[in-house]
Amino acid sequence: METTLEPTLSPQFSKLINRLNEVSDRKQMSVLHDHPWDLSPEGAWLKKRENLSIYGTEFYDLATEEERRLLSVYETGCWWHTFVIFENLVTEYYMKIINHESLAPFPAVIKYMHHFCREEITHALVFRKAMKHFSIAPFPVPDNLKDFYKDNAALADFPLKAVFLTIIIEWFAENNAMLDCNNDFVSPLARAVAVEHHKEEARHIEWGKSMIREFAERVPGFLEEAQEYTAPFMRNLLDMSTVNPETYARVGFSHPAFQDQERLFEAALFCENRDQINRRIMEPLLRFFVETTIYTPALHELWEAARFGPALEQVLARHNGRPDANDNLLDTPV
Ligand SMILES: [Fe+2]
Ligand SMILES: [Fe+2]
Repeated sequence: METTLEPTLSPQFSKLINRLNEVSDRKQMSVLHDHPWDLSPEGAWLKKRENLSIYGTEFYDLATEEERRLLSVYETGCWWHTFVIFENLVTEYYMKIINHESLAPFPAVIKYMHHFCREEITHALVFRKAMKHFSIAPFPVPDNLKDFYKDNAALADFPLKAVFLTIIIEWFAENNAMLDCNNDFVSPLARAVAVEHHKEEARHIEWGKSMIREFAERVPGFLEEAQEYTAPFMRNLLDMSTVNPETYARVGFSHPAFQDQERLFEAALFCENRDQINRRIMEPLLRFFVETTIYTPALHELWEAARFGPALEQVLARHNGRPDANDNLLDTPV
C-alpha cells in the first residue's frame, strides 16, 4: 500500500529541525581534537564500579579488585564495539533512506539526516580509536542487532518504524553510557568519549522523538504495531546490554563460583542495584511512550510481562505521562 504524506511539517517541528541543522552546521565532533588521547591507558577504570553488572551481587565480593577494573574495561569496550557496529549499520540504512523518494518532500529533514550520518561516521571512528587506545579487541556482534537492519533492508514506503527503533536504541544506550561514566573515578578519556558523543546523540534523539510525534498518526499501522513490540524489545535490549558471557570470559575470574554462568547471569539481571539503574535509564523513555500512546493502559499486561510494571506505575504516578523539557540525563541543551 502506498503511503502519501502531506508535505507539510508542523511549526514546532520545522523550528526544531532548523535549530538542529544550525547547531550541526556550526560544530561537529572531530576524531582528532575533542578527546584527551594523550592520557595513559594503564590502570584505568572505564565505568564506575557501582554500575558493574556484578555490583550488588555476591559475585562482586568474590572478584579481586583487578578483576573488577578489567570488567569495567571490557563492559565499556563491549558497549563501544556495539556502537561501532550499530552506527555503521544506521549510516548505511539512513543513506539509503536519503536516496529514497519517501522523504524527498521534506528537504530540511533530509538535510538533518545528512548531518546525522556524518556524525555517526565520526562516532564510530572515535569508538574504534578508543578501543585501540585501551587495547580492547572487537567483540562478537549480537545477531538481533544485525537482524534488525537486515529485516529492515527492504525499504517501507515511509520508514518510520526504523526511525523509531533507531531512536529508542540510541536513547537507551545514551542514558546507560551517561550513568556509567558519571564519576570522577572514571578515566577522563572514557568520560570524554561518552560526553562528546552525547552532545550529538542528544540532537539525534530529539530529532527522532519529533519524527515520531510528527508522523505517528499519519503512517497507517505504525502505532498499533509499536504498541505490541516495544515492551519486549526494550526488555531484550536492557538484559542483553547487562550481561555478556564474552566480557566475563575475558576477565577470567579466578574464583570457582564464576564457573556457574547461569547463577552469575541470574544474579546480575535480577539484582536490586541493576533494577534501580534500569529504572533511571528507562524513565524518560517510558514517559515518551505514555505521551505518544505507544504505551496504553489497555495493553498494560504486555509491559508487566516485560517486567516494566512497577517502573511504569511510578512514572504514571509521578509525571502523569508528561514529557520533561529536557529528557536527557546530561544537561546538554539541543
Ligand atoms: Fe552516535
Ligand atoms: Fe546517533
